[in-house]
Amino acid sequence: MGEITNVMEYQAIAKQKLPKMAYDYYASGAEDEWTLKENREAFSRILFRPRILIDVSKIDMTTSVLGFKISMPIMVAPTAFQKMAHPDGEYATARAASAAGTIMTLSSWATSSVEEVASTGPGIRFFQLYVHKDRKVVEQLVRRAERAGFKAIALTVDTPRLGRREADIKNRFVLPPYLTLKNFEGLDLGKMDQANDSGLASYVAGQIDRTLSWKDVKWLQSITSMPILVKGVVTAEDARLAVQSGAAGIIVSNHGARQLDYVPATISALEEVVKAAQGRIPVYLDGGVRRGTDVFKALALGAAGIFVGRPVVFALAAEGEAGVRNVLRMLRDEFELTMALSGCTTLADINRSRILTEGDRLRPTPRL
Ligand code: FNR
Repeated sequence: MGEITNVMEYQAIAKQKLPKMAYDYYASGAEDEWTLKENREAFSRILFRPRILIDVSKIDMTTSVLGFKISMPIMVAPTAFQKMAHPDGEYATARAASAAGTIMTLSSWATSSVEEVASTGPGIRFFQLYVHKDRKVVEQLVRRAERAGFKAIALTVDTPRLGRREADIKNRFVLPPYLTLKNFEGLDLGKMDQANDSGLASYVAGQIDRTLSWKDVKWLQSITSMPILVKGVVTAEDARLAVQSGAAGIIVSNHGARQLDYVPATISALEEVVKAAQGRIPVYLDGGVRRGTDVFKALALGAAGIFVGRPVVFALAAEGEAGVRNVLRMLRDEFELTMALSGCTTLADINRSRILTEGDRLRPTPRL
């Protein structure tokens, strides 16, 4: 392996190392994968307006998320089945995030339980929740996460059914037999059966509650004292409803382009959501973040922080914990450099005037 100089390089290594079924599961998007491509390309259409001759000898990237202080506005998104990428799976990710001083979000469909991840050592961790039809299962799981010291719930709201990921259908995707959905092990829901399409799509169809609606956000809040982040908002209308429903924050996400194809890139949807939230709750973003410049662009458009998904899984596959540490370090270093070269010394300096979107460029004069 030559020197890795950016997070995207892990993808090719993961492709070489992993069985096709696993790699395809991690890499793929829904249907035509238009949104998958667009999640990256939309970042490349945003340009900088750097300021010069500003003392950038000291740069402060620290921030706080729901009151928890972290070293940088770069966090780890929930991704399922991490032990399929590396035997250390979620443990490695938890340790790497903690070493980087940032937050890891553990998937409901992790191959390690909330208790096991908590036992890896200290760290600020959020728990991503899929709402099963059986609400007793959900209540139990939320309580276990709370007891294990998880600090917030990321409620995924874009998955009443699984998007069509054609690679998984062709591969008849199923979790390898030596792995289980550890959080559900004792409940007889830990195994995913072979199906004549994607085994995960069948699991979702059988287990996940399609009736989930805004009133359930209130229900969820009634069973836990953890704050709730609504993950999967891409419109102003839903941003307003999230505020009204008592959510503690919003994650602008299209599930890494794995659900509805032809939704805009998250970076394109971010500004309308931020405007609708009116500063009442923080707005975060995930989807296609691969460079420190992407982090900066998201913050300039009003995000309070970002999450990364695939780079973590690909780095895990390549190098386990060391790989995830390296991903977080590279993003941090690139982000710090972007701040310096743009003339920003704190996150508060990163504002809308620092970038030019396509919309801005179509206007006669830049907005100042
Ligand atoms: C995901 N994502 C996801 N989201 C969620 O709420 N629960 C989950 O279990 C998973 N699992 C999952 C697996 C894999 C392999 C991927 C790629 C994604 C979505 C994830 O949290 C996040 O929204 C995206 O991954 C962000 O996009 P990028 O960074 O992968 O481009």
